[in-house]
Amino acid sequence: MELVTTREELAKARAGLTGTVGVVMTMGALHEGHETLLRAAREQADHVLVTIFVNPLQFGPNEDFDRYPRTLAADLEVCRRAGADVVFAPSREEIYPGGEPRVRVDPGSLGAELEGQSRPGFFHGVLTVVLKLFQLTRPDLAFFGEKDYQQLTLIRRMVRDLGVPVQVLGVPTVREPDGLALSSRNRYLSEPERAAALSLSGALRAGAEAAEQGRDAGVVLSAAHQAFGAGTPGAQLDYLVLTDPDLEPGPVDGPARLLIAAWVGSTRLIDNMPIRLA
Ligand code: PAJ
Repeated sequence: MELVTTREELAKARAGLTGTVGVVMTMGALHEGHETLLRAAREQADHVLVTIFVNPLQFGPNEDFDRYPRTLAADLEVCRRAGADVVFAPSREEIYPGGEPRVRVDPGSLGAELEGQSRPGFFHGVLTVVLKLFQLTRPDLAFFGEKDYQQLTLIRRMVRDLGVPVQVLGVPTVREPDGLALSSRNRYLSEPERAAALSLSGALRAGAEAAEQGRDAGVVLSAAHQAFGAGTPGAQLDYLVLTDPDLEPGPVDGPARLLIAAWVGSTRLIDNMPIRLA
């Protein structure tokens, strides 16, 4: 496995990869969720390229950019174990020479909803760095987690709308045995907060169960709300919505997605689940 930190080194390493290249983009602090993406890439592409970059553009002024966990040595070990060929871990200057870019990708109206409503500019920052990393790594396949469902949806849309020559693949969310979705931010949680954080997956599960019993959208949503309220106190709901699988507005039936965001102490958590309405 080769570690590269500059665009020039990356270009050389990339040129040496023959066959298909699968990319997994991350902000580091790698856990089993990231590792699952790496393994999917390992299975489906000839070579695996991982990027590790805590992207300042996607953090708001009062968000956790400074305290975001940075664990490069452990991350490299995960990458090696999962069979990565190249890891690109650039500095901020390497990605944004001359400061923050003035030209950014506009995520459109969906970029202002859900996560975008609570985190203005977030998806401009995400899509800008993802497009830039696509240009630098030139992958055939790119793997993103369903855990960040709106992000995955917007990346698919960007690739289609801007004609980026890459195939985007979504990977199902990896959870702890008790249901909590794995996240780099889980390490911020104290023990009582960890218990309260289960309200998110608990709400989604209750909604999914109601849907399996053939309930309509209104009942599914209220079952999810009720389960959230009945969970360990300490989680503050931001949103809980039932939408179409492409996050398009309009009535939902058949395949749908239930999405939730909540604050637990000073940590913002998100989760979602596929459901099927009768
Ligand atoms: P990060 O939060 O590090 O996540 C990197 C990738 O891992 C994303 O595609 C995310 O959806 C996936 N992932 C995280 N937790 C997961 C879980 N529990 N199960 C499955 N996949 C999971 O998402 C980002 O970084 C950034 O926004 C990035 C795309 C790298 C742009 O900066």
